[in-house]
Amino acid sequence: MRKKIVAGNWKMNTNLQEGIELAKAVAAKSVETPENVGLIVAAPFTHLCAVAEAVKGSKVEVSAQNCADHEKGAYTGEVSVGMLTSVGCQWTILGHSERRQYYGETDEKLVEKVKLALGAGLGVILCVGENLDEREAGKHFEVVTSQIENVLFQFTAEDMAKIVVAYEPVWAIGTGKTATAEQAEEIHACIRKVLAGKFGETVAEDTTILYGGSCKPSNAKELFAQKDIDGGLIGGAALKADDFIAIAQSY
Ligand code: PGA
Repeated sequence: MRKKIVAGNWKMNTNLQEGIELAKAVAAKSVETPENVGLIVAAPFTHLCAVAEAVKGSKVEVSAQNCADHEKGAYTGEVSVGMLTSVGCQWTILGHSERRQYYGETDEKLVEKVKLALGAGLGVILCVGENLDEREAGKHFEVVTSQIENVLFQFTAEDMAKIVVAYEPVWAIGTGKTATAEQAEEIHACIRKVLAGKFGETVAEDTTILYGGSCKPSNAKELFAQKDIDGGLIGGAALKADDFIAIAQSY
């Protein structure tokens, strides 16, 4: 049975004190969520050490939002996977559309990052998704399939045990527009099929595929009821502990 996960992507929000408060509130309320639903908070780099401490003893796991594409050395401003694990971080999000769009993240770079993250023992939440033009041109299946092929096909079936896929239609992120449950489900089913073609049915069935893009307490239930949607990557609604927990309770 694949794992259900609700992950909060705080993006560039909260100062340290606010982040600790939020992490503590999520940890305290995590006992009110179904046992089979994993909770992850992806905090800014500066908060990770303190957030890991704040959620200690709860089921909440800690994620970064990115990592460097080199192991160490003269890469000013970058944060390595070794730095992440050393502060108690267990996951990293990679390939978020905001990184692809604003920071030139390419599939080639992502392969290096996923390699380093897995090598360090981090779990990876790999984001894929089409933008509005691609959706309107009817290219969404093609775009998502090629992102999966370019990155995940460089890895093994064994590696897939540590990789979660997040489908995030770029046009639905932070816009208040949500993909309909049907639109999301058809892409999730497509992703699972692509994974099955490369890694076999068992790996595909065991891979957690999250939906991201204006997921909130009011629409989570309908989205999570879909056969191939295994939880959510939550942006805006993850900044309020009550909303984040309510989303996890939608299962
Ligand atoms: P949103 O962000 O929930 O604010 O749309 C989702 C994400 O980018 O992870």
